[in-house]
Amino acid sequence: MSRTTDQRRRRTRLALPAAVLLLAGGAAIVQGITPAAAAETTLRAAAAKAGLFFGVAASPGRLSSIVAQEFSQLTPENDMKPSTIATSSGGLQNTGAADTLVNYAQTNNMLVRGHTLVWHSQAGALQGANQATLNTFIGNALTRWGNRIAYWDVVNEALADNNAGTRRSEWPHTLNRDANGDGDLFDAGDTDVIRDSFVRAKQVVQANGLSTKLCINDYDVEGLTVRGGTPNRKANALYDIVSNYRQYIDCVGFQAHFNDNPNSIISDDLQANIQRFADLGVEVHITELDIDDDLSNNDIGQGQADNYRKVVRACLNVARCTGITVWGIADSESWRSSERGLLFTGGNGNYQKKAAYHAVLDELNKGRSGTGTPTTPPVTPTVTPTVTPSTSPSPVPAGCTATVSLNSWNGGFVATVRVTAGSASINGWSVGVNLPSGATVTNAWNSTPSGTSGAVRFANVGHNGRLGAAQTTEFGFQGTGSATGITPTCTAS
Ligand code: G3I
Repeated sequence: MSRTTDQRRRRTRLALPAAVLLLAGGAAIVQGITPAAAAETTLRAAAAKAGLFFGVAASPGRLSSIVAQEFSQLTPENDMKPSTIATSSGGLQNTGAADTLVNYAQTNNMLVRGHTLVWHSQAGALQGANQATLNTFIGNALTRWGNRIAYWDVVNEALADNNAGTRRSEWPHTLNRDANGDGDLFDAGDTDVIRDSFVRAKQVVQANGLSTKLCINDYDVEGLTVRGGTPNRKANALYDIVSNYRQYIDCVGFQAHFNDNPNSIISDDLQANIQRFADLGVEVHITELDIDDDLSNNDIGQGQADNYRKVVRACLNVARCTGITVWGIADSESWRSSERGLLFTGGNGNYQKKAAYHAVLDELNKGRSGTGTPTTPPVTPTVTPTVTPSTSPSPVPAGCTATVSLNSWNGGFVATVRVTAGSASINGWSVGVNLPSGATVTNAWNSTPSGTSGAVRFANVGHNGRLGAAQTTEFGFQGTGSATGITPTCTAS
């Protein structure tokens, strides 16, 4: 980030929900209930149970055992930035540290977020490059790690500071041209480095059959409003970009470096802002979370813990908010160490949990419903279409096929399913999967699910049922447990 001014009990949840303890002959008998799950004791386990990942930014020197114990996702803090890995012609160099992180993540069943492809800062040899060179770099980076990277920050920090609501003026945004002078870059004749970079990234993903999701990431975009209730124009500008380029953008990252800058506060409308992006159909992630302890008036971290709780709850309350990443392990090792913004004190692998850690763990253990009981978000009931036997000849459905790609971590997964029409157009489709025992669907997008475990079906929604011959569409679902080995079958109507 370029903001130089920014550089400055445990509660064990003893859940006895509807438990009926009857004393019969001196023995305690539990009748007719499923015992509530015990609270998880690590962030990654509690998050997995709630149906999201909990990650951390790190460099190879920080890969102590706590990383794999506590976190299910890893973002290279600096080692995948163009300044490290890009050559001036868009090639790759010095990928050793990035490889170390990706290998570590793979060994420990962690997702990786690639960070970052197109950014005005830390551009290294790419500084000043044209779009063609940026595109070469995008292709090289995406294909080097392929599906080992679940999410890539394709464009980072594209928007201007101070709630301007405009794009940045420095390179690479100097490539932009508002051809018709109407004040936006969304017209066909305009040149927009954001659109052009995402178009290239999407082409690479599709041409190589990758499941990697493509994200746009920024800071000061977290709330609907900033301090004083002013509309968050930076968030609104990001919303316009995602709305206009929805076909290329799969995910939105709210960095969430919260501090006392009026635009970087934790507002009460954080959840509403996450929700409006989620309603566009993209996944939302909290990507670089750290919270200035001074925001809590030095009250030994309790205010900071409460602030962490608020952010985690806002994400949990939106089904498509699928992950939270903290920007480092311990305060002393953070880019903003003086503000003590993280979950641990200590350093060099010897870490102590702060009040903020316990607050996050507790909030995650409450799950998406906030009750602490295992949750499954409500699934809209659907009537499974029944086929009425008919003796009269009826048109043979043209058919469809479905393929799935999985991003899995220990205890959870996101499945992306691609539906393709056969040799003729179809008016609707439904896809069935048999989930392995222990796997449960927790949310779905661009489809209407019926069932959450075992044999589950996903039917098209209004906008994606009609497909021309050979046309494709995608939907997704997230779940707990493992979905490894599932084979989708598609039925057309
Ligand atoms: O490793 C060198 C060391 O050898 C040298 O002695 C020292 C001297 O300055 O620099 C060290 O490199 C520093 C590097 O962090 C590793 O600590 C760089 O100077 C420093 O610029 C770099 O800062 C990183 C910053 O991005 C650069 O923009 C921070 O670690 C990193 O946390 C921060 O991350 C950004 C995200 O990418 C985007 N969002 C904001 C976030 C925070 O600024």
